[in-house]
Amino acid sequence: MTAQRFLTGITTSGEPHLGNYVGAIRPAIAASLVPNVESFYFLADYHSLIKIDDPARIQRSTLEIAASFLAAGLDPQRVTFYRQSDIPEIGELTWLLTCVTSKGLLNRAHAYKAAVDKNNAAGMDPDADVNAGLFMYPVLMTADILMFNAHKVPVGRDQVQHVEMARDIAQRFNHLYGEHFTLPQVVIEESVATLPGLDGRKMSKSYDNSIPLFAPRAQLQKLIAGIVTDSRAPGEPKQTEGSALFQIYQAFASAEETATLARAYADGISWADAKQLLLERIDRELAPMRETYQALINDPARIESVLLEGAAKARKLSAPFTARLRHAVGLRNLSSLAPKAEAAKAAKPERPSFKQYRERDGKFYFKLVDVRGRVLLQSIGFDSPKEAAQTIATLTELGSSVRADLAEKLTTPTGVDAAEVAHALQALTDPAL
Ligand code: TRP
Repeated sequence: MTAQRFLTGITTSGEPHLGNYVGAIRPAIAASLVPNVESFYFLADYHSLIKIDDPARIQRSTLEIAASFLAAGLDPQRVTFYRQSDIPEIGELTWLLTCVTSKGLLNRAHAYKAAVDKNNAAGMDPDADVNAGLFMYPVLMTADILMFNAHKVPVGRDQVQHVEMARDIAQRFNHLYGEHFTLPQVVIEESVATLPGLDGRKMSKSYDNSIPLFAPRAQLQKLIAGIVTDSRAPGEPKQTEGSALFQIYQAFASAEETATLARAYADGISWADAKQLLLERIDRELAPMRETYQALINDPARIESVLLEGAAKARKLSAPFTARLRHAVGLRNLSSLAPKAEAAKAAKPERPSFKQYRERDGKFYFKLVDVRGRVLLQSIGFDSPKEAAQTIATLTELGSSVRADLAEKLTTPTGVDAAEVAHALQALTDPAL
């Protein structure tokens, strides 16, 4: 089985917090350890420009998020870990995709629609304060995903629509220019509930309710002390349901530890004691990483070189793929065009071909042979030459795949693999090959 490619991006818009760790960083690292999975993780710094015009903040956030992934155990040898803006082909692909994306599709994007609805409600121009980057956001994200032909894209619920758009856009491009892109599938980590913040709402930079991931212990303690609880006194039973403190604990604890805390709640543990338990539990997981994190933050040049190595690895794929896409849409080297008169005379490039023939049994056969004359497909005997010709026509039309009903009429000699056959079939019709 070929490896499944997982890809996801993290916008570099702020300091990573516990919610990012539980919701994105930790699951990403766990997924990268699964056999037969190829992971692509990147810092989506182009995306951050859509909402942030503070250059220092973007730079700082890039450093902090990269350091967080590395401190939490991401192995850059094992995965492809890079910064989006180090891959110039992403910008180029964004344009190619922009030109096959209907504007109406983008009009329907939730993030853009929310901005418009807000303006309408305030009696303002619908597009007031909406930059075209926000509008184009789904196309940039599509380029991120399609560039590496990701099969699976793990994201939060708010990003599902974007992955669906990536599928739509990929389909449109494939329809126009041939099967270049894998259609990506969204993966929502059901087991990873969104982490509540200090005030009980979803932990988010924009609500100012977050706990920085690698806050020093003293700061962590202070922030935990500020988690909103109810007014039940020590000794009074407490409810786990709706308790932000409990949910944050659960995100770090084993099932057993969580059950123990649930009993303590029922037994009337004081909020102060519960907060102490939470502090110790989080600190147990994060303290060792915190040290690594500090060392990394203090050595930005080292992180820079990790990212550049990642980009070099990524560009080994993105550069040739983009060359192929440029060719597919017609951005081509002119010298490959022979002058018209000569073109007619010029020998056709060698291609695989179908050979039809009749055997002594009176039946009509064909075979697909490659440029060296090797047989890639052998047909059964047909009663008429027309049947043979029709089967050839269907195969040629399909391009690269052999449909199940055709498979009965064909055999593949040993030593020939499906990819070779697919490539030959494609080469019959695609002049680019
Ligand atoms: N838009 C994503 C977010 O805000 C980040 C992102 C950018 C992304 N490009 C991506 C996620 C590609 C998955 C795949 O969370």
